[in-house]
Amino acid sequence: MNNTPILEVKNLYKYFGGIKAVDNFSFKLYEKEIIAIVGDNGAGKSTLIKIISGVYKKDSGEIFVNGTEANINNPNAAKKYGIETVHQDQGLIPILNASLNLFLGREKIRESFLGKIFKFVDYNFMNKETRKTLNKLNIELKDINLPVYNLSGGQRQAVIIGRAVYWGGRILIFDEPTNNLGVKQERKVIDLIKRLRNELGISIIVISHNIAHVFELVDRIIVLRNGKKVGERIKDKTNTNEIVSIITGAEA
Ligand SMILES: Nc1ncnc2c1ncn2[C@@H]1O[C@H](COP(=O)(O)OP(=O)(O)OP(=O)(O)O)[C@@H](O)[C@H]1O
Ligand SMILES: [Mg+2]
Repeated sequence: MNNTPILEVKNLYKYFGGIKAVDNFSFKLYEKEIIAIVGDNGAGKSTLIKIISGVYKKDSGEIFVNGTEANINNPNAAKKYGIETVHQDQGLIPILNASLNLFLGREKIRESFLGKIFKFVDYNFMNKETRKTLNKLNIELKDINLPVYNLSGGQRQAVIIGRAVYWGGRILIFDEPTNNLGVKQERKVIDLIKRLRNELGISIIVISHNIAHVFELVDRIIVLRNGKKVGERIKDKTNTNEIVSIITGAEA
């Protein structure tokens, strides 16, 4: 087994004025591993993943992808390193169909025989690729040509996940992937995340307040409090009570 982490963060700091949102945070994510980052409201979880996905600039610290220092200054840079981030109910344009959402900002352009003057958006290509991607992930949409506002929350989430996979994401970050979903849809999203790891070998970071989902999905749990890492446990060697007490600081 390859022992170089696919992602490593070292001594990360992020300040918002006087607030240390991320305080000397380090962690590793190995290939095909699923980890959870948990913590109370305001612990710094979203800030941390926004830095890794290029939304915020870090104040100091280093990020390594496959052992090489990564220069992540914007979301496109993160994507070049294979880091794709999935936010609940964000990032889809409701009036566009699944295919146009999959190719949002990265549309396939075809030149006509008249050369560079006439260019076409290649809808056929994009439809085919979308169908293939959704099939590969066992995502069923009745009609992929419908605007995505017709889809359920779980289906929309699946389209976002499909897009991340299609564009070559090898490190997927989920910020609250099951928020606002019904029980059935939650189940589908959880099962889809499992398949990403088991069948496609993708490495995954999940941020969630749902401790049951965390225990079902992940291999390792990292606890943040006030921007600091206050605990790290192998899932099989801990339990809900211990994690909750680390989150709240009750064990101190
Ligand atoms: N853009 C910002 N400007 C100023 N302060 C911010 C900003 N974003 C976050 N913070 C502060 O940084 C700290 C960490 O916030 P963050 O959103 O990362 O927490 P979180 O762990 O994701 O919380 P939640 O579970 O509620 O989503 C908080 O004190 C928050 O108020
Ligand atoms: Mg958050």
